[in-house]
Amino acid sequence: MKISLPNLWQNKHQFSTRIKVFMTRLSSLLSAAAIGTAALCSIGQTAQAQLSESIGNYASSAPDGANAWKLKASNGLVRIQVITPSIVRIRFAKQDSWEELSYAVVGAPVACKVDVKEEATATTYTTDSLVLVVEKNPIRIKLLNKKGAVVNEDEPAFGSTFLGEEVTTYKKMQKGERFVGLGEKTGSLDRKGEGYTLWNTDYFGYPSGADPIYQSIPFYIGIHSGVQYGVFFDNSHKSHFNFGASNDRFSSFTAEAGEMNYYLIYNSTMPEILKSYTYLTGRMPMPPMWGLGLQQSRYSYYPEAEVKTLARTFREKGIPADAIVLDIHYMDKYKIFTWDKSRFPDPKRMTTELKQMGFRTVAIHDPGIKVEKGYRGYEEGMAKDLFVKYPDGKQYTGQVWPGWCHFPDFTKQATRDWWRESLKYSYVDNGVEGFWNDMNEPASWGQKMPNNIIFDFEGKPGTHRKAHNIYGLQMSKASYEAGRALTGKRPFILTRAGYAGIQRYSAVWTGDNRSEEDHMMSGVRLLNSMGLSGVSYTGMDVGGFTGGPSPSLFARWVSIGAFSPFFRIHSAIDTKEADAWSFGEKVEAISKSYISLRYRLLPYLYSAFAESNSTGLPVNRSMAIAYTHDAKIYDGRYQNQFMFGPSILVAPSESNKEYTKVYLPDDQGWYDLYTDKQYKGKEELLVESPIEKLPVFVRGGSIVPMQSLTMNTMQAPTDTLVLHVYNGKAGIPYTYYEDDGESYSYEKGDYMRRSIKLDLVGRKIVFGKPDGTKASKFKTVQIMLHGFAGSKTLGTDSMVKFVDALPNFDPIGSGQQGPMAAVRVLSIAMPAGAADVKF
Ligand code: GLC
Repeated sequence: MKISLPNLWQNKHQFSTRIKVFMTRLSSLLSAAAIGTAALCSIGQTAQAQLSESIGNYASSAPDGANAWKLKASNGLVRIQVITPSIVRIRFAKQDSWEELSYAVVGAPVACKVDVKEEATATTYTTDSLVLVVEKNPIRIKLLNKKGAVVNEDEPAFGSTFLGEEVTTYKKMQKGERFVGLGEKTGSLDRKGEGYTLWNTDYFGYPSGADPIYQSIPFYIGIHSGVQYGVFFDNSHKSHFNFGASNDRFSSFTAEAGEMNYYLIYNSTMPEILKSYTYLTGRMPMPPMWGLGLQQSRYSYYPEAEVKTLARTFREKGIPADAIVLDIHYMDKYKIFTWDKSRFPDPKRMTTELKQMGFRTVAIHDPGIKVEKGYRGYEEGMAKDLFVKYPDGKQYTGQVWPGWCHFPDFTKQATRDWWRESLKYSYVDNGVEGFWNDMNEPASWGQKMPNNIIFDFEGKPGTHRKAHNIYGLQMSKASYEAGRALTGKRPFILTRAGYAGIQRYSAVWTGDNRSEEDHMMSGVRLLNSMGLSGVSYTGMDVGGFTGGPSPSLFARWVSIGAFSPFFRIHSAIDTKEADAWSFGEKVEAISKSYISLRYRLLPYLYSAFAESNSTGLPVNRSMAIAYTHDAKIYDGRYQNQFMFGPSILVAPSESNKEYTKVYLPDDQGWYDLYTDKQYKGKEELLVESPIEKLPVFVRGGSIVPMQSLTMNTMQAPTDTLVLHVYNGKAGIPYTYYEDDGESYSYEKGDYMRRSIKLDLVGRKIVFGKPDGTKASKFKTVQIMLHGFAGSKTLGTDSMVKFVDALPNFDPIGSGQQGPMAAVRVLSIAMPAGAADVKF
């Protein structure tokens, strides 16, 4: 059958008749595809390039390795592989040639039981966790849980299709289905009705709804009728996700080229889905403890005298901070691996002096290598053939900060080795401990690196189309592995661009945001969404990068930043100074108070990181993780709320809102963090949110460990661990974690991990037996019991403060104490083994 497309526009009168004829032809073609006849194979060449093709009908199946099967279809091949009982990999190809290299996936298939049942109409693969049905005529995929409920199924008419080079899988839209995740994507928590493009993009001052921005994480979670599943589409080409945008029929994922290669994940809870996904793409290593402190950044602090004044001011004002960040002006004419010696004459001496003041130095580095004879980075890269090239063998040249540049090919081991040696002589040897990878989309002025540029892909060359979205991932890998190999310590790595798996190497920040209220709120959702996509260590430019914040916006942003996994204040060139003390006494006091609270919360925060390291559960947890099927959490008024670790609920709100709507999702009992005002829960509230008070709540039954205030993480806290224990409906199991905060010895068991739980029936705190070889750095535990007033408990009455009172600027209202919570305090020696502490 051959069809020719009518010229619809030649005669207006014939238009409607012709379009009807055309639509009839088109729909008969699509239904031919749907029923899987071989009709499409015989379509003429012109039409084939324009209409989508189905995979067709099942022909045969044969084992293809452990728990893997290759299915022949009338119009291509399908490969099914069970990776774990909860993860199935599904691939479609036209020919029997498969893409084997993935920079995202590190989890190997595990041996597990799979029952295969071959029937006339379908083959069923059953694991301990799921049932995958491959229908035969035509080939369609259906995922069920063990109770027989449909979790995910192909759109029956389309399934997976080819349209020229483009590959798409269409999934039937389930009743009431919601979609969350997809990494650093703007928009609502529930992405239903939206469509997104994955193409890492340098977007200066992006509007708060812009798409795409810097990262591409092709993983999302679908939620409906009491079940949830994950889809990870591991294809790094430009891709498109449709969650019912402009259609009421399907969700879909498309890549402009490459293989239809996706993983379906089914678990019965969200945390387990994240565990499965991070089994595949890896979990974050433990960060250096100092990486959890405040980092002060600006584009740019220079010269050395300004950097030192900044450091001294922090110390004089008693505001904790751990790092000062050097932006591009530290370099000689923006050339990576160099220092501007007039601004920073002796970087090693400066970083040493900063360290004596309790500050680490972080430096930015961009991938562009200036084309300049005699410049070491350029000469070495040329001599070793490390830069990406045009098909004619000439190095590609694009413009970035230093001018015309070549770009290192991080898909080549030789480049990653050279990167390591270059970071050594330029940064590590000069005392730099943090590596900030920027402009790695890769960005160049004009933002259009040509598609024909060739990358090595470990000896199997591919083009920029495939390389673009993984460039930031590979640069971060090179930096992380360099930092680890050169120092033996945990390096701090920060990146702007990334792909699935970026959590293995780097923290991520959300790029060039704006100093605007809605940007702050949309930034919160970006972090929560990355948490739903395997990336835990995330933050945004506190205060906003472009524009300059109002005093209240800065204050509110610092308080939200204090509850972000990565906490950095950063601002653009030509904006007003944005240090904690730049906006007057009140803002300085609020900033100091929240930054100090974060430092006191470090034992709690560090334990949350340890949980990410071992299970993939993020530090900032969208409410969709624990309350997946509660419709209220997706409500526009509540969608920004998140759990900071397991016990603390943060309800961020704009700085100009004196009152904030809050939804407390369960009836465990909840506490206002500052005053201990109690709420039953499962209720909507209107709470006061003056600028000095970010609404924060603690879940009843929880444990929150804290320590004494220090000015940086090099300073040891006192030897008392303060354990806040909150009365509630039931005690919630908590896992406390410590290690040395800097080395990799935790990988060999040198840590202390123990469970701590409130037992309301036995009226005791139950300390589990510590796991690991490390002894706690704390000798004493001060237990602070919240919500036990009026009941007989051991200990003494006391008041505890989480934030400081505002200084008394107004001579009339004197003697303000600030908010305080009443507690019963009980001190014990840190239990060496399992122990029950009665109260
Ligand atoms: C990019 C970064 C920004 C940095 C600037 C100068 O815009 O996103 O954070 O300050 O480059 O290096």
